Amino acid sequence: MNSHIFGRSTKGTLPVAVAGDGCYLIDADGRRYLDGSGGAAVSCLGHSNAAVRAALHGQIDQLAFAHTGFFTSAPAERLADRLIEQAPEGIDRVYLVSGGSEAVEAAIKLARQYFLEIGQPDRRRVIARRQSYHGNTLGALAAGGNAWRRAQFAPLLAETSHISPCYDYRDRRADETPETYGQRVADELETEILRLGPETVMAFVAEPVVGATAGAVPAVPGYLKRIREICDRHGVLLILDEVMCGMGRTGHLFACLEDGVAPDMITIAKGLGAGYQPIGALLTSSAIYDAIAAGTGFFQHGHTYMGHAMAATAANAVLDEILGRDLLARVRVQGDRLDAALRAEFGDHPHVGDIRGRGLFRGIELVRDRETKAPFDPARGLAARIKKEAFAAGLICYPMSGTIDGQNGDHVLLAPPFIIEDAQIDELVGKLSTAIAGALAA
Ligand SMILES: Cc1ncc(COP(=O)(O)O)c(C=O)c1O
Repeated sequence: MNSHIFGRSTKGTLPVAVAGDGCYLIDADGRRYLDGSGGAAVSCLGHSNAAVRAALHGQIDQLAFAHTGFFTSAPAERLADRLIEQAPEGIDRVYLVSGGSEAVEAAIKLARQYFLEIGQPDRRRVIARRQSYHGNTLGALAAGGNAWRRAQFAPLLAETSHISPCYDYRDRRADETPETYGQRVADELETEILRLGPETVMAFVAEPVVGATAGAVPAVPGYLKRIREICDRHGVLLILDEVMCGMGRTGHLFACLEDGVAPDMITIAKGLGAGYQPIGALLTSSAIYDAIAAGTGFFQHGHTYMGHAMAATAANAVLDEILGRDLLARVRVQGDRLDAALRAEFGDHPHVGDIRGRGLFRGIELVRDRETKAPFDPARGLAARIKKEAFAAGLICYPMSGTIDGQNGDHVLLAPPFIIEDAQIDELVGKLSTAIAGALAA
C-alpha cells in the first residue's frame, strides 16, 4: 500500500483496522483479532461499547472543545469529582491531559515548582527504578529506567538516579522472604537519597505494577509502604505511575489501593479513556495544590487540549461502565481465571519461567532454562517472533524483549478487556500457546 503515514516502523505494511466488536478488532479483509492486550493495556471495555459511544455522540452535539484558558466544562468537572471520590487519601486535584507521557511530564514539572513554592529550591533530582517505563517525551523518558529505550537519547536526558526494581522472580535471594526482599530493595531508595543529599531530591517515581518493560511485575507486600516511609522521612514526593496498571486493570481503580499506600501524585491514562478518546490525568494531593495556590497561584505548564470536553466525556462514560457494572469485581474473577488458564497451559512449560501479575494484568517470562533462569539469546528476537506468530493466529498480545536489563530476557504482557468471557480466555491462552510453540520452533 502506498502510504504517507510516518508509522512506528518503516518496514512492512500493516492491516487496516476497520471495526471493533467487543474483544475483537476486524481488519479490511474481514479477519478478526482477539485483543488479548487491549493494544497496550488501553481498551478495557473492548472496541464497541455502546454506552461510551452514545455519550460521545451526545457531547459532540453539545460542545466539543472550549480552551481551558477561558472555560471549564461540565464533563471535566464531573470527571475530576469522580476520580477524587475514588482516589487514595489526600489526593484532591486532577490535572487533565491527553496521555500518559503528558501526565508524567506534568508530575515532574509540578514537583519542581512545588519545591520552589515552598522555599526548597535545591530540590531538583528524580529517583526512579531500572526497568520501568514512564513515557517517551524527554522528561518521562529520563525518569524511565529501560536502558534500550534511553540509549540513543541519553545526551538529551536530565540526570536521573535509578535504583533496583522490585523483581521477586529474579532478584529475591534464597534466604529472603518476599517481605524481607522488598524491604532490602526499598532501602536502596534511602541509600540513594542520602548519597545525593536529601535536600536535592524532589521525587521518587515508580509503577506499582511494572508493565511494558517488565511484563506485569507487582511490588511484593510491604515494598511500597517502606518506600512511602522513606519518602516521608526525607521530604521526597512519591509519584506513582499508574498509566498502565491503573483504572481497574488490577481489580482496583487505583492499583496502589491494594498496597495500602497513598502517594503525593498519581498519573493515569490508557484505560481512563479506554481508547475511545486520548486522555490522561495527573492527580495530586491537596498539599501540593495548596502550595501553588498560596504561592504564585499558577502552575507554569499547560497543553492546548488539556481538559478536552470530548475526552472527559469518554472517561466519564468509561467510569460509569466500570463502577456501574461492577467491572472491578469482574476483573478480579476473570483475572484469576486467566491466571489459572495460564498456569494450566504453561505451568510445566520448559521455557516459561514465571507467570505473574494482578487482575487482568498478567505476564509470562520466557527462559531458555527454567532451573538457571537463563534467558534466550537476544539475537533470536523471541518476543518479536511471538508477536508475529500470535498476530498470524488472530491474537493481539504485547511481547517485549529486554525484560531483565533492557537487552536480555523476553516476556509477554496480557491485558485483555474487562469484559472478556471464559471462552475468550481459553481462545487467548490457546492462541498464545500456538504462537510460543511456533516462535520457539523457528
Ligand atoms: C507506566 C507508563 N507510563 C507512561 C506511559 C506513557 O503513556 P503514553 O504512551 O500514553 O504517552 C506508558 C505507556 O505505555 C506506561 O506504561
